[in-house]
Amino acid sequence: MAKILIVDDDPQLRQSFEKLLTQEDHTVQTAATAEAGLEIVEESPPDLVIMDVRLPGMNGLEGSRAMRKVEPKLPIIIMTAYGTTETAIEATKEGAFDYVLKPFHIPDILIVIKNALEAGRIMRSRVEMDGTSDTPSPDAIIGRSKPMQEVYKAIGRVASTDATVLIRGESGTGKELVARAIYQHSMRADRPFLVINCVAIPETLLESELFGYEKGAFTGAVSRRVGKIQQANGGTIFLDEIGDMPLSIQAKILRLLQEKSIERLGGREPIPVDVRIVAATNRDLEAAIAEGRFREDLYFRLKVVTIWLPPLRERSEDIEPLADYFLARLSADMKMDNPGMTSEAKSVLQSYSWSGNVRELANTLQKALIFNRGVPLGAEDLSKAIHGGPEIKSVDKDSITETIRQWFKQRIASSHEENLFDSLIDDTASIVISEALNLTGGNRSRAAKLLGLSRPTLQAKIEKYRLKIETSVSSS
Ligand SMILES: Nc1ncnc2c1ncn2[C@@H]1O[C@H](COP(=O)(O)OP(=O)(O)OP(=O)(O)O)[C@@H](O)[C@H]1O
Ligand SMILES: [Mg+2]
Repeated sequence: MAKILIVDDDPQLRQSFEKLLTQEDHTVQTAATAEAGLEIVEESPPDLVIMDVRLPGMNGLEGSRAMRKVEPKLPIIIMTAYGTTETAIEATKEGAFDYVLKPFHIPDILIVIKNALEAGRIMRSRVEMDGTSDTPSPDAIIGRSKPMQEVYKAIGRVASTDATVLIRGESGTGKELVARAIYQHSMRADRPFLVINCVAIPETLLESELFGYEKGAFTGAVSRRVGKIQQANGGTIFLDEIGDMPLSIQAKILRLLQEKSIERLGGREPIPVDVRIVAATNRDLEAAIAEGRFREDLYFRLKVVTIWLPPLRERSEDIEPLADYFLARLSADMKMDNPGMTSEAKSVLQSYSWSGNVRELANTLQKALIFNRGVPLGAEDLSKAIHGGPEIKSVDKDSITETIRQWFKQRIASSHEENLFDSLIDDTASIVISEALNLTGGNRSRAAKLLGLSRPTLQAKIEKYRLKIETSVSSS
């Protein structure tokens, strides 16, 4: 639930937003002018502003400037109609979160709102280090082991510089938390922090997300778009999973590091930008270089300041405080009393080798809590949760369908690929197959049977999509 301010001179539009967002469990405030909106922001800042570009008095661009002066981390979505897009684009260039074209499709705007709220939350919610406070925030970094002390020191050392930082470590060790801690302790803490996940976004879209494009750069580029790097100007950009970044984009990031400028797709002129880059990966970059998947020159640029996060099994004294922290936090989230755990249960946690690290520990405790019977969790509860097979999260089918629809829509709109149909179907098929393999613990015969495919067909697809098969049952 968030507090959202709508600024529009059209009372009907204010009303429909109020209705829509209240249904979504948000609190809504409205203002008819940017001046009135600004007063609200000064008095008690909302979590998000959605503002029209054309307003009597101050327009949306001026309004957004003024609001960001008061609240630099306030995400602002600008609404624009045909004919005023240039002003909206101008606003995103100055750091407004995004703009949407009127008339809009409700599921589309709900997605933009969700993303904007998440970006705002990440900027504002403080990451506490070593969890010294009694009521640790949901984003605390817990652990006082020696290797973690080194991590805190490293964060302190690099935060105050403007150096590029590379965060490395196995999956689930807390790289994202560390990236946010660096940002919050840096000189750029009151400037934007934008996260780009390099694996979650398909290659063609990743490029336009990061660098933006000019009108007409490709079919579907109906107006200019400002990329995230330019939007983060003056701030920090977090390139998560950089080890999976396509080579073509690696070249452009290298240029950004060397020349402090970017070029939009279809653009002719370099645009100077001032962003600090923090990157993270769980990949073996040295191996990726040897295989020609990662540029060595970029690697050298990035690795000057490297923070290594130790795997959980190398700091077993952190397991107990982490478990206590997650039990307290998760049981509060699940609105139940914290059942605690027995000392036998603690030994089970101590002796397990956490290949999924902190994330796996948290998932295990969550599973154990679901079946908790109001008595302290025992050794058996935890063994069951650890070895209980893959977790299947329940999902809301409508919102997932809508997400997939949006994903396809963006791909179709921004693609230069010739075999787009095949490529979308392949992406989908590879997810289906990898999930079937996950569920069967990597057993190909059973996966083939589940999917109604012959074994050779399944095998051919595994090779085609280069799927990695995990034979152990993992729970993340
Ligand atoms: N030291 C820690 N204290 C508290 N929570 C932690 C700690 N380390 C990780 N977590 C939690 O574990 C989960 C995974 O952490 P995070 O997403 O930062 O991992 P990651 O290193 O980025 O993993 P991946 O490589 O898989 O992306 C998150 O929910 C995070 O809040
Ligand atoms: Mg991560």
